[in-house]
Amino acid sequence: MSQLDFLLSEFQRINGTPPEKIARAPGRVNLIGEHTDYNEGFVMPIAIDRDVFIAARARSDNRVCVTALDVAGGQTDIFDLAEIEHHPDYRWANYIRGVAYFLQAHGVALQGIDAVVTSSLPSGAGLSSSAALEVCTATILEAFASEKLDGVEIAQLCQQAENEFVGVKTGIMDQYASCLGEKDAAIKIDCRALTYETVKLSRGVTVIVADTNKKRHLAGSDYNTRRMECENAAMLIGQLLGKRVRALRDVSLKEFQRVAKQLPDNLMRRARHVITENERVEQAAKAAKQNDAVKFGALMNDSQKSLRDDYEASSPELDIMVSIARQQAGCLGSRLTGAGWGGATVNLVRDANVNAFVETVAREYEAQTNIKPWVSPVHASAGASLIRLPTGEMTR
Ligand code: GLA
Repeated sequence: MSQLDFLLSEFQRINGTPPEKIARAPGRVNLIGEHTDYNEGFVMPIAIDRDVFIAARARSDNRVCVTALDVAGGQTDIFDLAEIEHHPDYRWANYIRGVAYFLQAHGVALQGIDAVVTSSLPSGAGLSSSAALEVCTATILEAFASEKLDGVEIAQLCQQAENEFVGVKTGIMDQYASCLGEKDAAIKIDCRALTYETVKLSRGVTVIVADTNKKRHLAGSDYNTRRMECENAAMLIGQLLGKRVRALRDVSLKEFQRVAKQLPDNLMRRARHVITENERVEQAAKAAKQNDAVKFGALMNDSQKSLRDDYEASSPELDIMVSIARQQAGCLGSRLTGAGWGGATVNLVRDANVNAFVETVAREYEAQTNIKPWVSPVHASAGASLIRLPTGEMTR
């Protein structure tokens, strides 16, 4: 049974009617530009062909009744739109509550709904399952409201929900990619201007995700600590250079080199990662324009080194996965994707070698770690949308 058929039949079973609307929002894989978004720099993700889906129908009252099919055999949360508080136990529910809260705070008048959620995205793998849940929630709630927001506004509200309701100070990349991703292309986002350019990927190569299946929890302190270290580094570098540095984005490599020796070692290395990573994104965009997948892959490898040594965001399992990947024929580049400290790698592999790569990497990784990974090609797909009901009716 397809994921959508499953969703429809579960919706019918739980609510006794078919849904009125269905929304989908994709996860993302970041090709290059890691830990640069909250430093107001550049990132280059693709939205992938794995989604969170929400089916819903309107209610006549102000309540949201939502069942998550994939959590513990099905969990239900009910809350009133007029008084949204934290759910004390269900982490997933707080993404939904947070988005509803901030949509309303932004002046969008919401209507109560009965909703059912499912997902084809592995969660905790660094593929942005949380952002996809947030963006899917915003998309379905907005579909029942009369105000319409644009993709950047939805991304910002979802980020705010994650930062202020769930409590993880993530950047804008994941929500932005889930809202505005493009089919068959990466997007190079300027995380200060909140604009993007489409980057066509080189011909003849496939993006493959390899999830280490070592879960990571973003709410863990590492991410927030790095963010603080970057802010401190920016402040210090600004003082040393005698210029206004709002974020590490404002520091060129030359300027950094002038003051690097005067920085505490950890801040020097965090800043060096961010500043060189921004340059790598620019170079990767150029390489893609020239259809130079070899150069693109080499930049991904450099990014991994910098993330591992300077940003200390890798993990033993990620290092193993990267090292196995790089031994395979046709692998042009391999690096951790997303926050790191667990989760997945992203690999650029020649089309002819994809099947062998998937099989061998999965087998070798399991042999070395005793953990079964998830290794799969992914394809760049469009950002969140409503989808056609099986009756052929468009839901918007
Ligand atoms: C997580 C965050 C993003 C970004 C990446 C690291 O995925 O949600 O905002 O900071 O980590 O690049």
